Amino acid sequence: MPGLIERYRDRLPVTERTPVVTLDEGSTPLLPARRISALVGADVYLKYEGANPTGSFKDRGMTVAVSKALEDGATAAVCASTGNTSASAAAYCGRAGIRLAVVLPEGAIARGKLAQAQICGARVVAVQGDFDEALRLVRELVERRPLALLNSVNPHRLEGQKTAAFEVLEQLGGTPDWVALPVGNGGNISAYWKGFRESGVAPRMLAGQAEGAAPLVTGRPVPSPHTVATAIRIGNPARLDEASAAVRDSGGAVRALPDDRILSAYRLLAQEEGVFCEPASATSVAALIEAVADGLVTRGSTVVCVLTGHGLKDPDIAGAEGAEIVRCPPDVESLEQLALGGEPVHA
Ligand code: F0G
Repeated sequence: MPGLIERYRDRLPVTERTPVVTLDEGSTPLLPARRISALVGADVYLKYEGANPTGSFKDRGMTVAVSKALEDGATAAVCASTGNTSASAAAYCGRAGIRLAVVLPEGAIARGKLAQAQICGARVVAVQGDFDEALRLVRELVERRPLALLNSVNPHRLEGQKTAAFEVLEQLGGTPDWVALPVGNGGNISAYWKGFRESGVAPRMLAGQAEGAAPLVTGRPVPSPHTVATAIRIGNPARLDEASAAVRDSGGAVRALPDDRILSAYRLLAQEEGVFCEPASATSVAALIEAVADGLVTRGSTVVCVLTGHGLKDPDIAGAEGAEIVRCPPDVESLEQLALGGEPVHA
């Protein structure tokens, strides 16, 4: 499939003069989740954004933001990131020939994301602070120097990301009752809501946050946010007001989940649906399970859970949460015993 700018040109802020920087992002699968549907008594679909070129939904925003930066004559760019934005920006800026510095909270980035930024030629800066501090510094830096800012405070990012809502409507052939997604900086939920409104529909937005980083619950910044889901370890979202408005205006809700529920949704997706996403992404499914249990989402509803990033982004958590590795001497009797675990296997 061609990239998003080509597919949705008439609904994006581009002209014939815009140099299109694309990796043929978008067109990601919408997978029926049979086991999870049975579990919650609803029709659940997974919008698998890990299938984007750099493994996260950020590519949708980045194709537009980097194309527009190039059109505006930018030669250098910067972003703060919990990982995925930096990986995506590094790939698109590399392709565009734009110099990029990524500013990351030190020690709080999943290994796969860091590797992507490093190999794609970005300058990688680890700030001794959290994401909120990294973003504050980057915003100060762009006041001093003529750099393109590639965070989702850049409106072109949201324009690109709203295309996910268009795809959901096309793939489903209708409007879901609910769309569940993880919320960190608040950009993606705002973009989905914009995309749905521009399409004349209004599914209810279910925002999933980690309990230790849930400013959407109170509407106020959270100091020292913490969660195993590093992608959404954000206490002071740049788009808190828009994210809150998307929830409110859609008749939606917020659910804050403890890490153990996020991780059990993460294992459930991989083990029961064969869909390996990163921990933050599983927050959408954890939020759905919670909202079904407390009666908000009713039986028979159609629900789309957005899985924002690929599981390979965070191999350390997969290793820690996954199966133990069984050592085996090199003979077939041992292998038979260890591989089958003494359980009967029928031909
Ligand atoms: N899921 C994943 C995998 C993410 O990487 C992010 C955000 C979100 C959900 C939340 O989206 O911020 O638009 O509310 N990651 C940003 C980054 C902050 O720097 O990669 P949001």
